[in-house]
Amino acid sequence: MAPSIASLSALALAGLPLALGQFVKAPTNWTHATGYSDIQVRYKEVPTGTCELNSSVKSYSGYLDVDTDEHYFFWFFEARNQNPKDAPLTVWINGGPGSSSMIGLFQELGPCRIDENGTVVNNPYSWSESSNMIFIDQPTQVGFSYSIPVPGYTDANSGSIVTLPNATCPEYAQGCGTYSYPNETLTANTTAGVAPNFWKGLQGFMGAFPQYSRHEFNFATESYGGHFSPLINQYIEKQNELIAKKQLPKAHHINLKTALIGNGWYDPLIQYQAYYNFTVFPGNTYDYKPFNESISAMMYNALYGPGNCVDMTKECYASGRNDVCSFADNFCANNVEEVLDIYALRDEYDIRELSPDPFPSTFYVDYLNSPTVQEAIGAYVNFSESNSAVSSAFGSTGDDDRESGTIEALKTLVSDDITVVLYAGDADYNCNWLGGEVVAGEVNAPGFSSAGYTNVTSSDNIVHAQVKQSGKFSFVRIFESGHEVPFYQPLMSLEMFDRAINGKDIATGRRTVKGGYKTTGSAKSTYREGNSTVQFEVVNATATYNTTSNEPDPISAKKSFKAANKRRLFKPAKRVVDLTS
Ligand SMILES: *[C@@H]1O[C@H](CO)[C@@H](O)[C@H](O)[C@H]1NC(C)=O
Ligand SMILES: *[C@@H]1O[C@H](CO)[C@@H](O)[C@H](O)[C@H]1NC(C)=O
Ligand SMILES: *[C@@H]1O[C@H](CO)[C@@H](O)[C@H](O)[C@H]1NC(C)=O
Ligand SMILES: *[C@@H]1O[C@H](CO)[C@@H](O)[C@H](O)[C@H]1NC(C)=O
Ligand SMILES: *[C@@H]1O[C@H](CO)[C@@H](O)[C@H](O)[C@H]1NC(C)=O
Ligand SMILES: *[C@@H]1O[C@H](CO)[C@@H](O)[C@H](O)[C@H]1NC(C)=O
Ligand SMILES: *[C@@H]1O[C@H](CO)[C@@H](O)[C@H](O)[C@H]1NC(C)=O
Ligand SMILES: *[C@@H]1O[C@H](CO)[C@@H](O)[C@H](O)[C@H]1NC(C)=O
Ligand SMILES: *[C@@H]1O[C@H](CO)[C@@H](O)[C@H](O)[C@H]1NC(C)=O
Ligand SMILES: *[C@@H]1O[C@H](CO)[C@@H](O)[C@H](O)[C@H]1NC(C)=O
Ligand SMILES: *[C@@H]1O[C@H](CO)[C@@H](O)[C@H](O)[C@H]1NC(C)=O
Ligand SMILES: *[C@@H]1O[C@H](CO)[C@@H](O)[C@H](O)[C@H]1NC(C)=O
Repeated sequence: MAPSIASLSALALAGLPLALGQFVKAPTNWTHATGYSDIQVRYKEVPTGTCELNSSVKSYSGYLDVDTDEHYFFWFFEARNQNPKDAPLTVWINGGPGSSSMIGLFQELGPCRIDENGTVVNNPYSWSESSNMIFIDQPTQVGFSYSIPVPGYTDANSGSIVTLPNATCPEYAQGCGTYSYPNETLTANTTAGVAPNFWKGLQGFMGAFPQYSRHEFNFATESYGGHFSPLINQYIEKQNELIAKKQLPKAHHINLKTALIGNGWYDPLIQYQAYYNFTVFPGNTYDYKPFNESISAMMYNALYGPGNCVDMTKECYASGRNDVCSFADNFCANNVEEVLDIYALRDEYDIRELSPDPFPSTFYVDYLNSPTVQEAIGAYVNFSESNSAVSSAFGSTGDDDRESGTIEALKTLVSDDITVVLYAGDADYNCNWLGGEVVAGEVNAPGFSSAGYTNVTSSDNIVHAQVKQSGKFSFVRIFESGHEVPFYQPLMSLEMFDRAINGKDIATGRRTVKGGYKTTGSAKSTYREGNSTVQFEVVNATATYNTTSNEPDPISAKKSFKAANKRRLFKPAKRVVDLTS
């Protein structure tokens, strides 16, 4: 399995003292609570200034003990500008598998960002403007979640954790610290496998904090969340049925209302093909063609040639065998997906940028590895954005190459009258909108095939997106946006989120959506950005991104160096959002 670039970022930043030799003192002074379904919860109130800057808005973090040696980290923020006891509750998780949800919290839609000097900066477009927000690191070992905290170091070649006998950093080791014991048994290895513990985690939180879960529950995610969300939410609905039949006496009904998925990875058979569509034909909307005829033909053959990616993936679907699916996935990743990385030297998560792409910045990683912050939030382990034990556990079952029932599960959610929003930043190649659009059609929500694309209005009077919606199901194409949409289009993302969770139409936010609602417009979304925001030189690592011009800020963007004409040292972990190091 590919080593994760993200977990190596601590090494890239080895000059920073706080990333090194840091063993975490076990946190104390927990408040203990027993949640629903007898799930034990340990938490602390997080002091003002550790992310949330407003002292009237409370924040809590801690652990949900979902199983023996399986502890899920959570960080909760009250809704702003309203009584949080009257607000809905929304969970956000990132994908990977193996990516920490701190990515979403600090780079996308949480209450704060961390700047180049490690300073906490308020995010006025935080989704906590509209809802109570909980961020959960899952499955076990991801981010601050842990199995057993052990001393260890990060192996420079593989990016995996090597344990040490005690909290002394030997001379040969780099990136020493306290980590979650990397045991592939103490985590999940499939999409379906994450659902039971996730549900238990929610039971724990909702029982420990009933004041924040009195109203509706929403589920928001991105990327590999296209796998996680449909199956977890289907599981929540099934548990609700058991609760209604009084078969789970200690469990709490979770009032699921909305599911939002950004640039999701749903159906690899469709989405591996979409890499060709996005780069070659019909192409992306940035008038940017990364490959010449020869490379285009090579990619086409790797997909459609006899016994190649499409055939292998079909065999994975038909056989369901771990070895077949793993082999297929590695083949498709190396020979189809990574053609962009290898021959165009571009960022899979934003086709407009060459690699290394400085956006979104990763300054928050050092922030989360500072002893002060770790003490404030009660962390047991050091922070890494991506966990290699989890990605290799999933790699061993070939989960990435499986459809895993995601489309069927989305259909169930639609028929259960849940609001489902599939949205996609249209500059992302990794889980690109052309594939997402085909998946949205496959869900076949009533009336969707005859709905049309219409412009989404926004309070800044700029059209940032187009939506096709029928009833409570919608597909949203977001302009000038990479994979992590709320980073690139913060205002539009918050308004979309607010409209969705309040049952309003995505296009205007002015209508309450009922069964017969349908957007009108063209069958295809034809707007083209053109290539004015496409970068042809690598952008300086300290540059900032301007969400008005949709480009690096001119002063900060002083070009640093030309894209090196060589393959990057480490293969990117798939669907892991941080590849910027
Ligand atoms: C322990 O937690 C309580 C309640 O959250 C707090 O009032 C107290 O100051 C904390 N004590 C220490 C030593 O941190
Ligand atoms: C802080 O939060 C409170 C409660 O939500 C709100 O009334 C107040 O306006 C906020 N203050 C600032 C400076 O945003
Ligand atoms: C970071 O600190 C340096 C030195 O004080 C300052 O010049 C720079 O403007 C700061 N950056 C930000 C984003 O505030
Ligand atoms: C810690 O482990 C090292 C071996 O890595 C050993 O040499 C050292 O004596 C141990 N230190 C303590 C305090 O046990
Ligand atoms: C991993 O955890 C399982 C379950 O606790 C345990 O049985 C197994 O021995 C562990 N494996 C290793 C290598 O420690
Ligand atoms: C890719 O393009 C082909 C040919 O136009 C089309 O049949 C297929 O549906 C497209 N697939 C995706 C995922 O866009
Ligand atoms: C096509 O691009 C590849 C990779 O950049 C290069 O090696 C090859 O020479 C190009 N072929 C032509 C015909 O330009
Ligand atoms: C995946 O996890 C399940 C449940 O823990 C285990 O039975 C199975 O052997 C694992 N599969 C692989 C390929 O490791
Ligand atoms: C939709 O927005 C695009 C992009 O701003 C614009 O070119 C187009 O005219 C708009 N269409 C309508 C019907 O308003
Ligand atoms: C940008 O697009 C224009 C118009 O489509 C085209 O003429 C030009 O060659 C493109 N520039 C680059 C660098 O691809
Ligand atoms: C961001 O872009 C807008 C529009 O081009 C421009 O007016 C503004 O000055 C830019 N901001 C910075 C900080 O460069
Ligand atoms: C990146 O930008 C900073 C400030 O904007 C500048 O000091 C630095 O020299 C630039 N780095 C490179 C490699 O151009």
